Amino acid sequence: MTDCLSALPSSFSVSSGTATGRAAKSLASLLVRTLIGGLGSLFFMRSVSAQTPGTPVDLKTEHLVNPLGIDATTPRFSWRLQDPRRGARQTAWQIQVSTDSLEPGRGAGNSWQPARQASDQTLVTYSGKPLRPFTAYFWRVTAWDQDGKPHTSATARFETGLMHPKNWQGAWISDGADETIKPAPYFRKVFQTGKTIRSARAYVATGGLYELYLNGQKIGNHRLDPMYTRFDRRVLYVTYDVTKQFRTGANALGVLLGNGWYNHQSTAVWYFHKAPWRNRPTFCLDLRITYDDGSVETISSGTDWKTSLSPIRFNSIYTAERYDARLEQPGWNQVNFDDTKWTAAKIRSAPSANIVAQVMHPIRNVEAIPARSLTKLNDTTYVFDLGRNIAGVSQIRVQGPAGTTLRLKHAERLTKDGRADQSNIDMHYRPTDQSDPFQTDVITLSGRGEETFMPHFNYKGFQYVEVTSTQPVTLTQQSLTGYFMHSDVPATGQVNSANPALNKIWQATNNSYLSNLFGYPTDCPQREKNGWTGDAHIAVETGLYNFDGITIYEKWLADHRDEQQPNGVLPSIIPTGGWGYDWGNGPDWTSTIALIPWNVYLFYGDKKILIDNYDAIKRYVDHLEASSPNNLTSWGLGDWVPVKSKAPVELTSSIYYYTDTRILANIARLLNRTDDYTHYSSLAARIRQAINAKYLNQTAARYGSGLQTELSAPLHWGLVPDGLSAAVASQLAQRVEADQAHIDVGLLGTKTILNALSDNGHADLAYRVASQETFPSWGWWIANGATTLYENWPIDAKSDISLNHIMFGEVGAWMYKALGGIKPDPNAPGFKHILLKPNFVKTLDHFEATHQGPHGMIRSAWRRSGSGITYLVTVPPNSTATLFLTDGQAYADGRLLSPTTNAGVSGRQYRLVAGSYQFEIR
Ligand code: BGC
Repeated sequence: MTDCLSALPSSFSVSSGTATGRAAKSLASLLVRTLIGGLGSLFFMRSVSAQTPGTPVDLKTEHLVNPLGIDATTPRFSWRLQDPRRGARQTAWQIQVSTDSLEPGRGAGNSWQPARQASDQTLVTYSGKPLRPFTAYFWRVTAWDQDGKPHTSATARFETGLMHPKNWQGAWISDGADETIKPAPYFRKVFQTGKTIRSARAYVATGGLYELYLNGQKIGNHRLDPMYTRFDRRVLYVTYDVTKQFRTGANALGVLLGNGWYNHQSTAVWYFHKAPWRNRPTFCLDLRITYDDGSVETISSGTDWKTSLSPIRFNSIYTAERYDARLEQPGWNQVNFDDTKWTAAKIRSAPSANIVAQVMHPIRNVEAIPARSLTKLNDTTYVFDLGRNIAGVSQIRVQGPAGTTLRLKHAERLTKDGRADQSNIDMHYRPTDQSDPFQTDVITLSGRGEETFMPHFNYKGFQYVEVTSTQPVTLTQQSLTGYFMHSDVPATGQVNSANPALNKIWQATNNSYLSNLFGYPTDCPQREKNGWTGDAHIAVETGLYNFDGITIYEKWLADHRDEQQPNGVLPSIIPTGGWGYDWGNGPDWTSTIALIPWNVYLFYGDKKILIDNYDAIKRYVDHLEASSPNNLTSWGLGDWVPVKSKAPVELTSSIYYYTDTRILANIARLLNRTDDYTHYSSLAARIRQAINAKYLNQTAARYGSGLQTELSAPLHWGLVPDGLSAAVASQLAQRVEADQAHIDVGLLGTKTILNALSDNGHADLAYRVASQETFPSWGWWIANGATTLYENWPIDAKSDISLNHIMFGEVGAWMYKALGGIKPDPNAPGFKHILLKPNFVKTLDHFEATHQGPHGMIRSAWRRSGSGITYLVTVPPNSTATLFLTDGQAYADGRLLSPTTNAGVSGRQYRLVAGSYQFEIR
């Protein structure tokens, strides 16, 4: 195929000035929409700096900006070009990595400086001198543009952490209590520094959760560090720059430990209280100080630390926190505190010898949400409403007599009489007494003026907070603030359309996605907080179109490898304390092992996740092969929470088995594993044949009894024999019309129904289904006030009724794929080549999707004008796109464009190089 540019009339070329203006304008409009949009404060803005076109920007190491404390021996570097010019691309690159700060004009790469590479790649793996632990490295890259002109980036940095467990000096310590003891422990140590400090780093590994203080100041703004792992197989450590909090002379270190998933004291049906790793929280700390004279000193955890119980009387990641302000010890984390009553810390064994850097976007209090209203029921009972459903915590400011106890009960719904109603979310909780009420913080006031409380080691799912008090207190609407917490992944996508209901569905989907991202993807933030595999693979594309999720998924796939049995089997929830190896873990759920790496690869073009998980995927598929002699499997839960009809489990599970096998064959080909490729592609063909032999009626072009999932799953996952897709799709369209253009699917069918329609010529119908506002539909929830996605279709369902589930969230990805038409190309992943397949659905006036891919912002925006469509496209620098039009022809500046001839494919195709375009489609 030739480039579109050569096919375009010369007058079509947009001058660089226009293109720049347009890019700037679109960025400005993005900013405005972003600020007014529901996720406004979360949107990640790229700087609109006046860089020379062609400059490499957004430099990342291990997919993070200037990370501290990485363990990778061969880190990945990536950048993109800031270049709005038509046809902008990189023709060569050269990188310099050095322990010197590489000020322009100075120093070469003393660690790595490969020769100039004639290549357009913008993701490279370090292969210089062995990296040293505890070392800052600086790097910059020079990119040569299409005219052969070099442009050098600003300098980025990264810093290695311990790199190997043997580099730890500290001892693992705890307070010596056993796992049944409720209050959270404090630890402290005072030490002296004589010399001037150049820099100081704290490295903290924890079984449980921690907060670190230096001289009374809390270090950093992360919440719930470290992220949850299977603690007996892998423990994460976190690195912080603590230089600024240091003083010359005496310094005080303070650590507060929480239970998290390490010491689960609450009792629920998943038996986390019986997890094999369970123990009293423990930590290991090295504070590494580099002095101005270059000497290094390490202050470490050990028996010279002192410990005492804190005012946090109880903390459960699952339920809530109890705090007694009367037990506060002011100054506990400062130098002059009298700790003579504290006892010596005790040595403990490490939860696991495998201590690994946490290299990912952390959890934060990302958004503060003021209470939208307050209802005072009486002197001691108030109900706050945030106006939207979130995951996170509430913070209360209150004044009252010492000993007054307040209970803050968090709920997603209200009872008829306006009280917090937890009946939709507490059914799996098995409390053994009254001391651990569900999602209810209990605080006792000290009586010392206005007091503020926010839990340290817990989060909840809620919209309402009912506050009851043992004595009358005065609360106003300003007394309580909600904090939306989640893994603070930068936003990478934006959708906007002429249909407000569709826009709200998109926002609710993102709210649920983020409410379920806490260092691992969860099903719901209230009832379970479990890493349910099925929910996560259904939502992975929605996640990746909207957020920069690679670091979270890479970590979660490491959790998968920790959990995988020698025979390849995975549990249905990951991580797990042991539950889930015998229920719910068929291929329809645990295909995460193949689907997540594959999708991350498609979105980022980074093979590492494929390489890291190759053996695990293979063991998984081998297990399925060994246990499926007829090439079919009935292992699985099937189309979970269906509207009414349920497809046969054997059909849906076998389709996932087929999909995993196909993905494995693809990866084998990419990684040059020829024998594996041959084996797994022929296995995939046999599975497909077995499914079609049993379920496909060729003459009727129908699978099974012709339910929506039965027809859409084979279409979406590529099982339909060549030449039969249109006929099966038309059966599906008839089925959907017969269902009044409403869904009749469960979890697995939500992944396929809209895509199968829109990918096979029925986009208008898909849009009707996606934008319904009557039962059953996503819009039905929105019409009933939802701000997050629900777990069940009827508003008044009696079971499966969490109001913040991501599992039906594929609709968010579908908007990008079907309406915007933005799709990654498996042959040039990471949006190196973009497939643009927009559907200008007739009942929508305009639609716009943008996605920040590895090469920059992709934009697909269309609007009806007169009898045609005005269509704006941005193809980021260093990438190309193919625009597929099924209807109409493209004009630019009034001239008809000649499409690329591509025999055998219906519709027209236009090859686009980087740049911004305006087409008229008639
Ligand atoms: C979870 C779901 C999950 C399902 C599996 C439920 O309790 O909330 O989202 O996938 O169980 O059966």
